[in-house]
Amino acid sequence: MLIYSTVFSLYLYFCVLLMSQQKQNVDIYSFYINSTVTSRYATTVITSRVANTLNESQGIQFEVKIPKNAFISKFRMTIEGKTYDGVVKEKEEAQQQYNQAVSRGQSAGLVKSVGRTLEDFKTSVTVAAFSKVTFELTYEELLKRRLGKYELLINAQPMQPVADFKMDVHIQEKPGISFLEVKGDLSTGDLTNAIKITRADKDAWVTFYPTRDQQTTCRSCGENGLNGDLLITYDVERQNPQGEVVVSNGYFVHYFAPSDVSRIPKNVVFIIDRSGSMHGKKIDQTRLALLRILSDLDEDDHFGLITFDSEVSLWKRELLKATETNLENAKSFVKEIRDRGATDINAAVLAGVDMISRHPREGTASILILLTDGDPTSGETNIDKIMANIKEAIGTKFPLYCLGFGYDVNFDFLTKMSLENGGVARRIYEDSDADLQLQGFYDEVAVPLLSDIQLKYPGGTKLTKTSFSLYFNGSEIVVSGQITDNSVESFTTEVIKSSNVTYKDTIMTKDPRDVPPENEDFMQRLWAYLTVKQLLERQVLLKEQEKEDEKKEALKLSLKYQFVTPLTSMVVTKPQEGEVEVADKPKEGEEPSRHQGKN
Ligand SMILES: *[C@@H]1O[C@H](CO)[C@@H](O)[C@H](O)[C@H]1NC(C)=O
Ligand SMILES: *[C@@H]1O[C@H](CO)[C@@H](O)[C@H](O)[C@H]1NC(C)=O
Ligand SMILES: *[C@@H]1O[C@H](CO)[C@@H](O)[C@H](O)[C@H]1NC(C)=O
Ligand SMILES: *[C@@H]1O[C@H](CO)[C@@H](O)[C@H](O)[C@H]1NC(C)=O
Repeated sequence: MLIYSTVFSLYLYFCVLLMSQQKQNVDIYSFYINSTVTSRYATTVITSRVANTLNESQGIQFEVKIPKNAFISKFRMTIEGKTYDGVVKEKEEAQQQYNQAVSRGQSAGLVKSVGRTLEDFKTSVTVAAFSKVTFELTYEELLKRRLGKYELLINAQPMQPVADFKMDVHIQEKPGISFLEVKGDLSTGDLTNAIKITRADKDAWVTFYPTRDQQTTCRSCGENGLNGDLLITYDVERQNPQGEVVVSNGYFVHYFAPSDVSRIPKNVVFIIDRSGSMHGKKIDQTRLALLRILSDLDEDDHFGLITFDSEVSLWKRELLKATETNLENAKSFVKEIRDRGATDINAAVLAGVDMISRHPREGTASILILLTDGDPTSGETNIDKIMANIKEAIGTKFPLYCLGFGYDVNFDFLTKMSLENGGVARRIYEDSDADLQLQGFYDEVAVPLLSDIQLKYPGGTKLTKTSFSLYFNGSEIVVSGQITDNSVESFTTEVIKSSNVTYKDTIMTKDPRDVPPENEDFMQRLWAYLTVKQLLERQVLLKEQEKEDEKKEALKLSLKYQFVTPLTSMVVTKPQEGEVEVADKPKEGEEPSRHQGKN
């Protein structure tokens, strides 16, 4: 341990030394971040121009943080008028190229995961004395609606104050923008004055042009300049309950988020892990979150509480109505939850399924929420058997959501089990705000508005996911696809709720006002982005041929659209003879990792 920390301090010291050296001898004379959002599809370009102010050649670094949900789609370096473009290749192929480079003793760069929401892209290149280099990185993402808003997160950390720093964001939303807010550390202190928001009916522009001096003044900034995020949140107008359809160049996207419906009472069962590993802060935060969640239940909701270690304890055998008395009793039960014992996920979830299945479900939405921080260690511990048992018991009647607390959970297992049962898995990060993360997740599923939703597009093909078990207030259903016959004049969407056509809409596809010509192909990219995301997500559910086929399809699209996904890597060939770097997308929950070639 002592040796480790000594080595680590040395390493830190070395890094600080390197950084301060770089700071003196390189001048980042311009740094631009340019983000365009068209119908929730965000394309962000970061351009950094750097001069080597030293009288000899040296390595110059480019390091930026991008949202985890995004796919890098372009990287380019320009040195002395020559451009070097990154090329996206199948992972194995890229790896081979990288291995060859490593065996020749050259370095490799990577994207690594940092924190909850960001990934770190880092590369460096040798630049001759008094020469300049331009780095340009592009990434793309579809903004997801959560709790009634979209969030565009932009990180800026150029490592030194920059004479010419500009961030330009342009948001264009056809139905109009209902509200827009700019938050984040970069909007604190003196920097507030550097932000300008301009709004028109369907457009919003946010510019952030801090002076060199201002760049050292925000909460998280210092003598190394800007260091933090700008978070732009907004929502769009929803005049049309049928949703919004955008059509462009043979592709369409349908955003469906009706607000003209009333909530469905819900039956919710919380299955809470109280095994020994939940000890301390985790169990405290869980209790805190549960108490608040209970307070948020509506009177016509029904709820159940199950805690488990190697034994399963039910608060009550039946679901009870969320009356004041019942809630008070439940809260007393929650306050007494203590950690102990092992983890019997199988028995606990089956008890939850049984409880919810015995409750009448007519006109209500049922939801099962499992919170655990570990692997099954008691009762049935075979993961495949647990999944089979639970799938059979639930039988597609209601969704199971799994919350994995910390990094000791088998998150792949939780993801697979949730997806198999119509839900999603979410990681809860061990941190001071874990209780808020838990509550935030609950808030997203707190108000079910529609159940058993099918979307139909008679003129569409290659559709992304079209059936959803529940639609929650504040979220949004998104379907994209290709238009079968591009010469048709109109396009029809149909939303079927519980076997009854609820929303039907026909739009004219030849509306020239739809999409500005400069980003006509964004729709195709949006479709590709969503398709790849969903194909990759489904991988855990599929077997054999089907799994291979879908993987192949995801790879094909990743290559065609040059997305750095878990199946592809970006190979960057540098000016120095044969020097190659490979950028990979890190896996969710992966501890920061790095292949480093010998230098
Ligand atoms: C940002 O991107 C838009 C659209 O691609 C372009 O018109 C604009 O010139 C760019 N701005 C900067 C500062 O690069
Ligand atoms: C760079 O400048 C320093 C002092 O300014 C000098 O000692 C050194 O020889 C120069 N190096 C080259 C490669 O010209
Ligand atoms: C849905 O959420 C919005 C706020 O985001 C709220 O105004 C509305 O009342 C909610 N609808 C229902 C049915 O609760
Ligand atoms: C379908 O919905 C309409 C309008 O809400 C209603 O009048 C009709 O009875 C429903 N049909 C079925 C089969 O549920």
